[in-house]
Amino acid sequence: MSTTASTKITRKTLIEALNEDLSREYQAIIAYVNYSQVLKGAAYMKIADELAIHATEELAHALQIANHVDYLGGMPANTPKKVKTSEKAEDMLRFDLDNEKETIRQYRQRVKQCEAMGEYAIAEQIRKILIDEQDHLTALATALGIDAPDPGA
Ligand SMILES: [Fe+2]
Ligand SMILES: [Fe+2]
Repeated sequence: MSTTASTKITRKTLIEALNEDLSREYQAIIAYVNYSQVLKGAAYMKIADELAIHATEELAHALQIANHVDYLGGMPANTPKKVKTSEKAEDMLRFDLDNEKETIRQYRQRVKQCEAMGEYAIAEQIRKILIDEQDHLTALATALGIDAPDPGA
């Protein structure tokens, strides 16, 4: 594939990219369902409740992304990206933080790609999803006692 062809976004490559996003949303749903129940310790009870709320927000994102894939003429993905597990609360929060960073990086690109294709409505909805993902990132960073990291563009 030439450089031009590989960087140019088409309907087909947008469908593929959105399906990767959908697999990341499935991963997030599973991780938040699991971690919200497994997190133990008085220090983590508040964040455990927040993770359960994140799970429902990730489901709403998954439904929206699946809807866009269908609208573009694709078949929505049905497999999650791998979910890491740990017995340690801090590990779980770090896994989530890393996943949220990657999700934000990817959605920032997706907004640009959608706009380049004139898919302004999808771009608009992904912008709204980004607000939630940035809230998730901040909640996790706060629970870890660190500043919210810059996910990059
Ligand atoms: Fe999400
Ligand atoms: Fe998230």
